Amino acid sequence: MKGIILAGGHGTRLHPLTLGVSKQLLPVYDKPMIYYPLSVLMLARVTEIQIISAPHDLRSFQRLLGDGSSLGLSLSYAEQDEPRGLADALLIGADHIGDDSVALVLGDNIFHGPGFGALLERHAGDVEGCVLFGYPVRNPEDYGVGEVDAEGRLLSLVEKPARPRSNLAVTGLYFYDNDVVDIAKNLRPSERGELEITDVNRTYLDRGRATLVSLGRGFAWLDTGTHDALTEAGQYVRILEHRQAVRIACVEEIAWRMGFISREECHRLGSDMAKTAYGRYIMDITAAD
Ligand code: G1P
Repeated sequence: MKGIILAGGHGTRLHPLTLGVSKQLLPVYDKPMIYYPLSVLMLARVTEIQIISAPHDLRSFQRLLGDGSSLGLSLSYAEQDEPRGLADALLIGADHIGDDSVALVLGDNIFHGPGFGALLERHAGDVEGCVLFGYPVRNPEDYGVGEVDAEGRLLSLVEKPARPRSNLAVTGLYFYDNDVVDIAKNLRPSERGELEITDVNRTYLDRGRATLVSLGRGFAWLDTGTHDALTEAGQYVRILEHRQAVRIACVEEIAWRMGFISREECHRLGSDMAKTAYGRYIMDITAAD
Protein backbone atom coordinates (compact mmCIF):
# COMPACT_ATOMS: atom_id res chain seq x y z
CA MET A 1 0.00 0.00 0.00
CA LYS A 2 1.28 3.48 -0.90
CA GLY A 3 0.67 6.57 1.20
CA ILE A 4 -0.20 10.16 0.37
CA ILE A 5 -0.23 13.08 2.76
CA LEU A 6 -2.07 16.10 1.41
CA ALA A 7 -0.57 19.18 3.00
CA GLY A 8 -1.98 21.85 0.69
CA GLY A 9 -4.55 24.60 1.11
CA HIS A 10 -4.21 28.24 2.09
CA GLY A 11 -4.95 27.78 5.79
CA THR A 12 -7.10 30.90 5.61
CA ARG A 13 -8.91 30.13 8.86
CA LEU A 14 -5.59 30.33 10.68
CA HIS A 15 -4.36 33.68 9.34
CA PRO A 16 -2.06 35.36 10.23
CA LEU A 17 -0.36 32.19 11.53
CA THR A 18 -0.32 30.66 8.08
CA LEU A 19 0.66 33.73 6.05
CA GLY A 20 4.33 32.78 6.24
CA VAL A 21 4.26 29.06 6.91
CA SER A 22 2.24 26.07 5.82
CA LYS A 23 -0.51 25.05 8.23
CA GLN A 24 0.82 21.49 8.38
CA LEU A 25 4.17 22.75 9.68
CA LEU A 26 2.68 24.63 12.63
CA PRO A 27 3.52 23.24 16.05
CA VAL A 28 1.14 20.95 17.84
CA TYR A 29 2.86 21.16 21.21
CA ASP A 30 6.28 19.56 20.66
CA LYS A 31 6.30 18.60 17.00
CA PRO A 32 5.17 19.85 13.58
CA MET A 33 1.59 19.03 12.70
CA ILE A 34 2.55 16.73 9.81
CA TYR A 35 4.19 14.29 12.24
CA TYR A 36 0.72 13.24 13.37
CA PRO A 37 -0.67 12.09 10.00
CA LEU A 38 2.77 10.73 9.09
CA SER A 39 2.69 8.57 12.21
CA VAL A 40 -0.74 7.26 11.19
CA LEU A 41 0.63 5.98 7.88
CA MET A 42 3.65 4.48 9.62
CA LEU A 43 1.42 2.66 12.10
CA ALA A 44 -0.48 1.25 9.11
CA ARG A 45 2.95 -0.04 7.97
CA VAL A 46 2.97 2.24 4.93
CA THR A 47 6.52 3.32 4.10
CA GLU A 48 6.36 4.70 0.54
CA ILE A 49 4.77 8.08 1.01
CA GLN A 50 4.23 11.11 -1.20
CA ILE A 51 3.79 14.52 0.38
CA ILE A 52 1.73 16.93 -1.71
CA SER A 53 1.89 20.64 -1.01
CA ALA A 54 1.95 24.10 -2.54
CA PRO A 55 5.14 24.76 -4.56
CA HIS A 56 6.45 27.41 -2.14
CA ASP A 57 5.99 25.11 0.89
CA LEU A 58 7.47 21.91 -0.53
CA ARG A 59 11.02 22.91 0.26
CA SER A 60 10.15 23.35 3.95
CA PHE A 61 8.66 19.85 4.10
CA GLN A 62 11.75 18.52 2.35
CA ARG A 63 14.01 20.29 4.84
CA LEU A 64 12.04 18.76 7.70
CA LEU A 65 11.73 15.19 6.47
CA GLY A 66 14.25 14.71 3.65
CA ASP A 67 14.01 11.49 1.71
CA GLY A 68 12.71 9.73 4.83
CA SER A 69 15.58 7.23 4.92
CA SER A 70 16.55 8.13 8.51
CA LEU A 71 13.09 6.85 9.51
CA GLY A 72 13.28 3.83 7.21
CA LEU A 73 10.81 5.48 4.85
CA SER A 74 10.85 6.44 1.20
CA LEU A 75 9.41 9.93 0.88
CA SER A 76 8.69 11.77 -2.35
CA TYR A 77 7.23 15.21 -2.93
CA ALA A 78 4.76 16.58 -5.44
CA GLU A 79 3.37 20.05 -6.10
CA GLN A 80 -0.22 21.16 -6.05
CA ASP A 81 -0.10 24.60 -7.65
CA GLU A 82 -3.65 25.54 -6.59
CA PRO A 83 -5.97 23.85 -4.08
CA ARG A 84 -8.49 22.03 -6.29
CA GLY A 85 -10.09 19.80 -3.68
CA LEU A 86 -8.91 16.81 -1.72
CA ALA A 87 -9.51 14.30 -4.50
CA ASP A 88 -6.99 16.17 -6.64
CA ALA A 89 -4.31 14.49 -4.49
CA LEU A 90 -5.30 11.17 -6.09
CA LEU A 91 -4.67 12.60 -9.57
CA ILE A 92 -1.36 14.21 -8.60
CA GLY A 93 -0.36 10.99 -6.86
CA ALA A 94 -1.53 8.61 -9.62
CA ASP A 95 2.00 7.68 -10.72
CA HIS A 96 3.07 7.19 -7.13
CA ILE A 97 0.08 4.90 -6.51
CA GLY A 98 0.84 2.88 -9.66
CA ASP A 99 -1.12 -0.37 -9.46
CA ASP A 100 -1.13 -0.47 -5.66
CA SER A 101 -3.74 0.43 -3.05
CA VAL A 102 -3.38 3.77 -1.27
CA ALA A 103 -3.88 5.40 2.11
CA LEU A 104 -4.66 9.10 1.82
CA VAL A 105 -4.40 11.19 4.96
CA LEU A 106 -4.99 14.89 5.35
CA GLY A 107 -1.95 16.69 6.74
CA ASP A 108 -3.93 18.47 9.44
CA ASN A 109 -5.74 15.47 10.95
CA ILE A 110 -4.69 14.27 14.40
CA PHE A 111 -5.71 10.81 15.56
CA HIS A 112 -4.91 9.23 18.90
CA GLY A 113 -6.33 6.25 20.69
CA PRO A 114 -5.55 2.87 22.17
CA GLY A 115 -5.24 0.02 19.68
CA PHE A 116 -5.16 2.38 16.72
CA GLY A 117 -2.04 0.82 15.20
CA ALA A 118 -3.56 -2.66 15.21
CA LEU A 119 -6.82 -1.33 13.76
CA LEU A 120 -4.95 0.39 10.95
CA GLU A 121 -2.81 -2.62 10.12
CA ARG A 122 -5.92 -4.81 10.03
CA HIS A 123 -7.70 -2.59 7.52
CA ALA A 124 -4.66 -1.64 5.45
CA GLY A 125 -3.80 -5.28 4.75
CA ASP A 126 -5.93 -6.08 1.75
CA VAL A 127 -8.19 -3.17 0.92
CA GLU A 128 -11.27 -3.96 -1.11
CA GLY A 129 -13.17 -0.89 -2.20
CA CYS A 130 -12.67 1.90 0.31
CA VAL A 131 -12.36 2.04 4.06
CA LEU A 132 -13.46 5.23 5.81
CA PHE A 133 -13.13 6.09 9.48
CA GLY A 134 -16.10 7.69 11.23
CA TYR A 135 -16.02 9.69 14.43
CA PRO A 136 -18.95 11.10 16.40
CA VAL A 137 -18.77 14.88 16.73
CA ARG A 138 -20.88 17.70 18.13
CA ASN A 139 -20.77 19.63 14.81
CA PRO A 140 -21.21 17.11 11.97
CA GLU A 141 -22.35 19.87 9.59
CA ASP A 142 -18.69 20.96 9.33
CA TYR A 143 -17.57 17.63 7.84
CA GLY A 144 -18.41 14.83 5.46
CA VAL A 145 -21.15 12.90 7.26
CA GLY A 146 -21.89 9.18 7.10
CA GLU A 147 -25.24 7.62 7.91
CA VAL A 148 -25.14 4.02 9.10
CA ASP A 149 -27.80 1.39 9.86
CA ALA A 150 -28.09 -0.57 13.11
CA GLU A 151 -25.42 -3.03 11.89
CA GLY A 152 -23.01 -0.18 11.15
CA ARG A 153 -23.41 -0.50 7.36
CA LEU A 154 -22.95 2.76 5.50
CA LEU A 155 -26.17 4.10 3.94
CA SER A 156 -25.31 7.59 2.75
CA LEU A 157 -22.51 10.13 2.58
CA VAL A 158 -23.04 13.88 2.40
CA GLU A 159 -20.47 16.66 2.41
CA LYS A 160 -21.18 19.35 5.00
CA PRO A 161 -24.96 18.79 5.15
CA ALA A 162 -27.10 21.62 6.50
CA ARG A 163 -29.18 19.01 8.31
CA PRO A 164 -26.93 16.04 9.13
CA ARG A 165 -28.62 12.62 9.33
CA SER A 166 -26.11 11.43 11.92
CA ASN A 167 -23.31 12.76 14.10
CA LEU A 168 -20.67 10.59 12.38
CA ALA A 169 -18.03 12.72 10.70
CA VAL A 170 -15.91 11.07 8.04
CA THR A 171 -12.34 11.72 9.14
CA GLY A 172 -9.47 12.66 6.85
CA LEU A 173 -8.02 9.16 6.53
CA TYR A 174 -9.07 7.06 3.55
CA PHE A 175 -7.93 3.61 2.38
CA TYR A 176 -8.64 2.82 -1.28
CA ASP A 177 -8.04 -0.03 -3.66
CA ASN A 178 -6.53 0.76 -7.05
CA ASP A 179 -9.90 1.63 -8.62
CA VAL A 180 -9.56 5.02 -6.96
CA VAL A 181 -7.26 6.29 -9.70
CA ASP A 182 -9.93 5.78 -12.37
CA ILE A 183 -12.65 7.08 -10.11
CA ALA A 184 -10.66 10.27 -9.47
CA LYS A 185 -9.96 10.72 -13.20
CA ASN A 186 -13.68 10.65 -13.95
CA LEU A 187 -14.72 13.09 -11.23
CA ARG A 188 -16.39 16.35 -12.09
CA PRO A 189 -15.84 19.44 -9.94
CA SER A 190 -18.57 20.15 -7.40
CA GLU A 191 -20.64 23.34 -7.20
CA ARG A 192 -17.80 25.00 -5.31
CA GLY A 193 -15.44 24.02 -8.15
CA GLU A 194 -13.57 21.34 -6.22
CA LEU A 195 -12.83 17.66 -6.72
CA GLU A 196 -14.56 16.39 -3.59
CA ILE A 197 -13.28 13.38 -1.73
CA THR A 198 -16.87 12.71 -0.67
CA ASP A 199 -17.75 12.17 -4.35
CA VAL A 200 -15.00 9.56 -4.61
CA ASN A 201 -16.32 7.86 -1.50
CA ARG A 202 -19.87 8.04 -2.77
CA THR A 203 -18.84 6.24 -5.97
CA TYR A 204 -17.57 3.36 -3.83
CA LEU A 205 -20.76 3.48 -1.78
CA ASP A 206 -22.93 3.28 -4.95
CA ARG A 207 -20.93 0.22 -5.99
CA GLY A 208 -21.54 -1.35 -2.56
CA ARG A 209 -17.83 -1.27 -1.82
CA ALA A 210 -17.51 1.29 0.98
CA THR A 211 -16.87 0.39 4.61
CA LEU A 212 -17.08 2.79 7.52
CA VAL A 213 -15.05 1.89 10.59
CA SER A 214 -16.28 3.69 13.67
CA LEU A 215 -13.74 5.26 16.00
CA GLY A 216 -15.73 5.25 19.19
CA ARG A 217 -15.75 6.93 22.56
CA GLY A 218 -12.40 7.47 24.20
CA PHE A 219 -10.72 7.98 20.86
CA ALA A 220 -9.37 11.41 19.95
CA TRP A 221 -9.75 12.88 16.48
CA LEU A 222 -8.74 16.47 16.91
CA ASP A 223 -9.41 19.51 14.81
CA THR A 224 -6.70 22.04 14.03
CA GLY A 225 -8.70 24.40 11.84
CA THR A 226 -9.02 27.39 14.17
CA HIS A 227 -6.72 29.12 16.65
CA ASP A 228 -8.64 27.63 19.56
CA ALA A 229 -8.77 24.12 18.08
CA LEU A 230 -5.05 24.22 17.34
CA THR A 231 -4.25 25.31 20.90
CA GLU A 232 -6.55 22.65 22.34
CA ALA A 233 -4.91 19.95 20.23
CA GLY A 234 -1.52 21.03 21.59
CA GLN A 235 -2.87 20.97 25.13
CA TYR A 236 -4.30 17.48 24.65
CA VAL A 237 -0.92 16.20 23.49
CA ARG A 238 0.90 18.00 26.30
CA ILE A 239 -1.40 16.65 29.03
CA LEU A 240 -1.11 13.04 27.89
CA GLU A 241 2.62 13.25 27.33
CA HIS A 242 3.21 14.77 30.78
CA ARG A 243 0.89 12.42 32.61
CA GLN A 244 2.16 9.20 31.07
CA ALA A 245 5.73 10.16 30.18
CA VAL A 246 5.16 8.93 26.63
CA ARG A 247 5.22 10.82 23.35
CA ILE A 248 2.36 10.82 20.87
CA ALA A 249 3.30 10.66 17.17
CA CYS A 250 7.02 10.53 17.88
CA VAL A 251 7.93 9.35 14.39
CA GLU A 252 11.43 8.29 15.44
CA GLU A 253 10.03 5.98 18.14
CA ILE A 254 7.40 4.58 15.76
CA ALA A 255 10.05 3.91 13.10
CA TRP A 256 11.98 1.87 15.67
CA ARG A 257 9.00 0.06 17.18
CA MET A 258 7.69 -0.85 13.70
CA GLY A 259 11.11 -2.28 12.82
CA PHE A 260 11.87 0.29 10.09
CA ILE A 261 15.12 1.30 11.82
CA SER A 262 17.34 -0.24 14.50
CA ARG A 263 17.49 0.80 18.14
CA GLU A 264 20.93 2.30 17.55
CA GLU A 265 19.71 4.32 14.57
CA CYS A 266 16.79 5.58 16.59
CA HIS A 267 19.02 6.48 19.51
CA ARG A 268 21.20 8.55 17.19
CA LEU A 269 18.16 10.51 15.98
CA GLY A 270 17.44 11.34 19.61
CA SER A 271 21.00 12.39 20.37
CA ASP A 272 20.86 14.84 17.45
CA MET A 273 18.16 16.64 19.47
CA ALA A 274 19.66 16.08 22.90
CA LYS A 275 18.99 19.67 23.96
CA THR A 276 15.25 19.00 23.96
CA ALA A 277 13.07 16.81 26.15
CA TYR A 278 11.84 15.28 22.88
CA GLY A 279 15.35 14.18 21.92
CA ARG A 280 16.13 12.93 25.43
CA TYR A 281 12.92 10.88 25.43
CA ILE A 282 14.10 9.08 22.29
CA MET A 283 17.52 8.55 23.85
CA ASP A 284 15.95 7.16 27.04
CA ILE A 285 13.63 4.64 25.39
CA THR A 286 16.42 3.36 23.17
CA ALA A 287 19.17 3.32 25.80
CA ALA A 288 21.19 0.08 25.86
CA ASP A 289 20.26 -2.17 28.83
C1 G1P B 1 -12.53 17.66 4.43
C2 G1P B 1 -13.52 16.71 3.77
C3 G1P B 1 -14.56 16.24 4.78
C4 G1P B 1 -13.85 15.60 5.97
C5 G1P B 1 -12.79 16.55 6.54
C6 G1P B 1 -11.95 15.84 7.59
O1 G1P B 1 -13.17 18.84 4.79
O2 G1P B 1 -14.15 17.37 2.67
O3 G1P B 1 -15.42 15.29 4.18
O4 G1P B 1 -14.81 15.28 6.97
O5 G1P B 1 -11.91 17.03 5.54
O6 G1P B 1 -10.96 16.68 8.13
P1 G1P B 1 -12.34 20.25 4.89
O7 G1P B 1 -11.52 20.12 6.14
O8 G1P B 1 -11.49 20.32 3.67
O9 G1P B 1 -13.38 21.31 4.98
